[in-house]
Amino acid sequence: MDDGWWKPYKIKVVEPIRLPSRPEREKFLKEAGYNVFNLKSTDVYIDLLTDSGTGAMSQAQWAALMEGDEAYAGSHSFELFREAVLEITGYPYVLPTHQGRAAEHVFFSVTVKPGDIVPNNSHFDTTRANLLALGAKPLDLPIPEALDPELLHPFKGNMDLEALERTLGENPGRVPFVMLTITNNTMAGQPVSLENIRAVSKIAHAHGIPLILDAARHAENAFFIGEREPGHTGRSPKEIAQEVFSLADGCLMSAKKDGFGNIGGFIALRDAELYEKCAEKLILWEGFPTYGGLAGRDLAALAVGLREALDPLYLRDRVGQVRQLAEELRKIGVPVYWPPGGHAVYVDAARLLPHIPRDQFPGQSLVCALYLEGGVRAVEVGSGMLGEAAKLELVRLAIPRRVYTEEHLRHVVHTFSRILKNRENIRGLRLVAGSGPLRHFRARFAPI
Ligand code: F0G
Repeated sequence: MDDGWWKPYKIKVVEPIRLPSRPEREKFLKEAGYNVFNLKSTDVYIDLLTDSGTGAMSQAQWAALMEGDEAYAGSHSFELFREAVLEITGYPYVLPTHQGRAAEHVFFSVTVKPGDIVPNNSHFDTTRANLLALGAKPLDLPIPEALDPELLHPFKGNMDLEALERTLGENPGRVPFVMLTITNNTMAGQPVSLENIRAVSKIAHAHGIPLILDAARHAENAFFIGEREPGHTGRSPKEIAQEVFSLADGCLMSAKKDGFGNIGGFIALRDAELYEKCAEKLILWEGFPTYGGLAGRDLAALAVGLREALDPLYLRDRVGQVRQLAEELRKIGVPVYWPPGGHAVYVDAARLLPHIPRDQFPGQSLVCALYLEGGVRAVEVGSGMLGEAAKLELVRLAIPRRVYTEEHLRHVVHTFSRILKNRENIRGLRLVAGSGPLRHFRARFAPI
């Protein structure tokens, strides 16, 4: 008998939340300089700013936390963590970091030199900024289909193989490694197919260049492969993830996503020499190689979380929840990037607010409207975040893992329906403070 789609957990601990009144929301937003990063979380009702570090840990993770070994060197918790990473990735050399961007900083600082080019399907903002800080050029090579928010394609996170081949051919000695971000966060959280990963791996290796995965959401990516890719349907997410990692030479991971950590990240590599170089920098910037930037208890909880994130029932629920929100929004006429990705629903703000030109930040204007109308916090992924590199004006509604229920997400749909009724009255914004590739975090805006 088919029991349908059932939720594989229930709630044990609750965190009170509150919807501030409309006049309060107006005041808070103004004080925040129309940048929701400046809001207090206690003034937010439904927080969809990020799925990073915001997930609910399981009872098994909380139990593991109590057994954390806080030894400076040789911590048992590190052993458990390393075993989990090795089991999933097959990479024997594992360095914990306090989060993903620290892994980027350490790894890039030993592999990248000024003038280098690093191709990626699309770089995340910190990846891009870390490369720029070293004088290297981050190059986004998404497939052209990804730029059409309406086009149906099962793997819009794929890399443009011809463009990669061309880049490597034209720049001998200037590409230290190729990256693939799975799933592709800045391109609407879209998955990358196993076929594309295999092809990228083949091209990079034919040029003698390693492939490094940005594995923040590798479990969600594996779920999509198992759901959509011919020849792989029905395989377990873990088996698929293992095959994906087998095609690359190492990975950087923010364990705040598919590691179920409130904090954490790591570098995992096949190459002993590269590991030694990274370990030196790690000691300088993060900590001894058996704790990196983390407490032993964090490592213990991550060892459990990394495995839980590959549970097929959890993943079905997770991706299903995101998909359901996307479908509900689409039904009421919100232009949603299609098909929805794994961790977030991306709304096409340029189409929702066509009267606001790009230089008046339609995405940021929509983010402000969401807070004003419903106390919902989202994030802009467009000209505000990516500047000139922005290919679309998107607003991301990132769903924290195992946190919100259907009722919470219904409030989000209701908030959008109010915005749709009143959309002509939403005004654009002018940037009054903030510069550089990470300006969006601290920028201030004023209504036009
Ligand atoms: N790579 C990807 C694909 C990411 O999405 C992130 C973070 C990082 C690297 C950096 O990891 O935050 O642990 O330092 N993404 C979060 C987000 C912040 O909201 O998408 P971190």
